[in-house]
Amino acid sequence: MRSFSSAQTLALLCFLLPAARSAAVFPATSAFGAPPDCLSCRRQVTDPASSATPTPTPSTSASPTTEVQDGQTGTLMVLPPQATETGLKQIPWQMPIIRSLRQAQEINVDPVVPAMNTLANHGYISRNGVSTLEELVNGMMEAFNLDVNFAGGLAAVNLLTRGNPFVNKVSIGGPSPLVPPLPGNIDGPVALGIAAHGRLEGDVSLTRADAAIGDSVDFQELIFDGDLLQLGKFGDNGPDGNNTVFNVATAIGIMNNNFARSLALNPQLTFNAARMSVAYATAGFWLTVFPNGTTNQSTLPIVGSFMRNQTFPPNWYRAASPILGSANAKVVAELQTAIPILPGRKNAQGVYVADPAPPFPFNTSFVCTAYYDQAAHMPVGLANTTGIYKQNVDLLTGLLFAAANRAPGCTQLAPPSLPSGA
Ligand code: HEM
Repeated sequence: MRSFSSAQTLALLCFLLPAARSAAVFPATSAFGAPPDCLSCRRQVTDPASSATPTPTPSTSASPTTEVQDGQTGTLMVLPPQATETGLKQIPWQMPIIRSLRQAQEINVDPVVPAMNTLANHGYISRNGVSTLEELVNGMMEAFNLDVNFAGGLAAVNLLTRGNPFVNKVSIGGPSPLVPPLPGNIDGPVALGIAAHGRLEGDVSLTRADAAIGDSVDFQELIFDGDLLQLGKFGDNGPDGNNTVFNVATAIGIMNNNFARSLALNPQLTFNAARMSVAYATAGFWLTVFPNGTTNQSTLPIVGSFMRNQTFPPNWYRAASPILGSANAKVVAELQTAIPILPGRKNAQGVYVADPAPPFPFNTSFVCTAYYDQAAHMPVGLANTTGIYKQNVDLLTGLLFAAANRAPGCTQLAPPSLPSGA
């Protein structure tokens, strides 16, 4: 039984993967009148009472770009412009590679995410495991040819859930002394980094175990082996042999298989709306971001290189044109259509139950539900900031609201609402 349509799923991905809304999913001008590229706005009005459509607010040269709060120096964030050089390009793989961020730095951050580790290993982003909005977005545009809006949304959701948007820093692993806690310790005394379980990192991952029952940080050979069994069943034929090219059927098999495993083994299984959309989106990445730009195929050795080694594969080319979120949204829609799972979690009796619907208007579509749920994983104190801190939070939350706002009826901003201490 399903409660969300494919169209709603596509809309959800437009929230998580914001550029999705610029192409097939939404018309060039949405019902709300926002231009499809408004995520590149420098600033956005986030007060829904003043306007249902986020509106860019140009900065003035007189505005300060740094500010001190609670002993920290905050820096004004700027979403970079879309790269102008966006063609097919071989991404060097024979450069001095630091195989693990653990070896790369005196400060240990446990790496958790394959694509960001790959960027760091190859020097496209900082090798010390700590990055900024601008660095992440530029790295994703240069090495993966992601559209700036797609990249900006991915960076924003991570900065808001696990980074420090005041100083414009996020650890792509565990805690780092380079990322101070949020001013006033409004999210506790330590900035945990994106590897921490429960906000973006979560259950039913592609190659990591659920935190309650295993290692949610490191690549797990056994789980990847399970993925490859699905490839053996459903994959397309390619230059490396039969059933060696990833496709949608394989992604469906993987998600079905991984959810079944979590359902059987994890007494604390949580697969809420935000988490479900992230899990399906990462499965989509294998098909949309990892393919070799010369063949458009995502093969066994390519995926193995990114996931197991966290390096660019030999002779790998980035896509021939910028990858829009809509490409990933299409894959996720197919997953949602094929996989009969509702967002939910196990109760005290170990039974998986669907989550209750959020309040109106966030119950009007899956995109709005996930948007609301994602905001519920961002520290509530972020909604009450001032100065440059507030400007940065407004930029990031504005990126997410602008995307969610394109779903019909999703007209209300969901401010960060994770209770203090959660
Ligand atoms: C080129 C863009 C990106 C690609 C291709 C990509 C790819 C992936 C993939 C394939 C996974 C699944 C790992 C697994 O389940 O084993 C993943 C997970 C994750 N990524 Fe990314 N990613 C991208 C951008 C980012 C950015 C910018 C951040 C944060 C700065 C990020 C943070 C995360 C996190 C926190 C997870 C863990 C989610 C989970 O528990 O499954 N990603 N990513």
